[in-house]
Amino acid sequence: MTEELYRRLLAEAESDYEGFWARRAREEIDWIKPFTRTLDESNAPHYRWFDDGVLNVSVNCLDRHIAQRADKPAIVFEGEPGDVRVLTYRELLAEVGRFANALRAQGINTGDRVVIYMPMVPEAVIAMQACARIGAIHSVVFGGFSGESLKGRIIDAGATAVVTADGGHRGGRIIGLKAICDQVLDECPTVRTLFVLKRAGNAIAWRPGRDIWWHEAVADVSADCAPVAVGSEHPLYLLYTSGSTGRPKGIQHASAGYLLGTILTMRWVFDIREDDVFWCTADVGWVTGHSYVAYGPLACGATMVMYEGAPTIPDPGRFWDLCERHRVSVFYTAPTAIRALKKHGDDYPRGHDLSRLRLLGSVGEPINPEAWMWYYQVIGQGRCPIVDTWWQTETGVHMIAPIPGIVALKPGSCTRPLPGIVADVVDAEGTPVTAPDEGGFLVIKRPWPSMLRTIWGDPERYRETYWERFQNRYYVSGDGARRDADGYFWVMGRVDDVLKVSGHRLGTMEIESVLVAHPLIAEAAVVGRPDELTGEAICAFVVPRGPRPSGDERAALIAELRAWVGEKIGPIAKPADIRFADNLPKTRSGKIMRRLLRAVARGETVDEDVSTLENPDILRQLQGHDPQ
Ligand code: WTA
Repeated sequence: MTEELYRRLLAEAESDYEGFWARRAREEIDWIKPFTRTLDESNAPHYRWFDDGVLNVSVNCLDRHIAQRADKPAIVFEGEPGDVRVLTYRELLAEVGRFANALRAQGINTGDRVVIYMPMVPEAVIAMQACARIGAIHSVVFGGFSGESLKGRIIDAGATAVVTADGGHRGGRIIGLKAICDQVLDECPTVRTLFVLKRAGNAIAWRPGRDIWWHEAVADVSADCAPVAVGSEHPLYLLYTSGSTGRPKGIQHASAGYLLGTILTMRWVFDIREDDVFWCTADVGWVTGHSYVAYGPLACGATMVMYEGAPTIPDPGRFWDLCERHRVSVFYTAPTAIRALKKHGDDYPRGHDLSRLRLLGSVGEPINPEAWMWYYQVIGQGRCPIVDTWWQTETGVHMIAPIPGIVALKPGSCTRPLPGIVADVVDAEGTPVTAPDEGGFLVIKRPWPSMLRTIWGDPERYRETYWERFQNRYYVSGDGARRDADGYFWVMGRVDDVLKVSGHRLGTMEIESVLVAHPLIAEAAVVGRPDELTGEAICAFVVPRGPRPSGDERAALIAELRAWVGEKIGPIAKPADIRFADNLPKTRSGKIMRRLLRAVARGETVDEDVSTLENPDILRQLQGHDPQ
């Protein structure tokens, strides 16, 4: 983008908000039937965008490139064992068409929900695009989540089909995804079909009548699948994410507005060009993998790299080796990955030719100065801007991020809102904070096209979670932020009980309810504490039903509880720290004092007056002054 265009976009959004978005939607989307209404606020906060328009998202990602880019690589895939597969736009369209027809042959129709539980292989993207092609609503579940988590999501979404693989390669091991499906599908009565991709070749059980091999399903099927025309607001996908209360919620995204957001941010923030090789390292199980693997790069006709495995296999140079061999020019990852790879020193990146890189991106958590400097100097060789992108599952795409080359960078700041995004920092009353560097709630003051539309099956929770805090005036992100004297945003982290552990989003209540479901546990409270490597680490305070364990018994129970959480949610949710206590600090009205627990978890001295606690003595125990 040029400076002049950037200024013009900002001015246009400011003077004619709806017109700004309408023009972008007309320029960027191939419509089957153009829209005449831009924004419908009549049922706010369930906003509708471009709502009488008709389109198909997969046509916008695939068919429209065939005239000019049919033989251009769309996906350059590399498996963890080193197998490489390139799919051109023509080939990808054919694969998507075949799988879309295979879905149809199993009775899956527009509006049906399909859960995708896959390794990071091209078929994950093919399955998502195939759903979009027939208007089925996909819900991808991260392959690192447990069977229990998978089951909860399948049931909540009412999915009729699940797409999985025998297994995927990760960290030198095979993760048996099909076996995990087998454990839970009997308890998911809506599921009629389980598609199984043969990927890792591991032995699996088979349920005739329900299970169907991917390769058999597409064997005698036409590669042509007529796209289903859907309205702009037709749900494209559900993606379950953690909140501060209750179970993960199904964030529902719409078709046109979401697609538009992915395209614009690919252009504005990643400055995507015809000869770029784009690599976003996120798994398709997260929103980053939706917007910047499955949809954005394809909608822009880009070439993207997709990698199945861990960054440290066979050694911690794997990412840089991939960048070199596949000539990556735009690289997007999370601070956690940068910190983990930095730990292994400079020799790994220095041993690879990274001269093709021209732009680096960061997402998912605040990036600390040491990680930023290493990313900038060692990976980007002082040549590549770093776009620090602030956004959320709910926002669909980048909201606050620099335009490279135009908005000057400040390490640790996501800089300024993108054109058309009206972000602000407000105090507890909802009044904008005008003093520089004063913290407040990060809110968005106008609806935007790629925003979530609702929580699947729970519109009440949608309104309550995101809108009621400030009487429906603003979208409440749940993050705290401050703005400096130059108007730059500095995101300070969550103000609610959501954790970001290695960039993965988890709810403290989710982990607590799993802990108290263990037969030996009476009560639990979970808080985050800063961690050098993972950003935040999970610290659980646990009250056992019997006496506090000690010695070997204590170590065994800790191991048992970690395994329990891993089994119920997934390995990413295992607490780093488990501390036993006879009780938890509570107010006289019985509320757990989380603030206090956070201080204890950080090893800070608690200097506030605790005499009003129901049980002031418990603090000593939690701080470890009593023998464990
Ligand atoms: C955090 C990930 C600081 C934030 C795309 C947000 C960030 C949550 C940044 C959403 C960033 C994301 N700087 N913090 N650049 N990007 N976050 O839904 O707390 O997994 O609310 O979406 O990640 O996490 P989610």
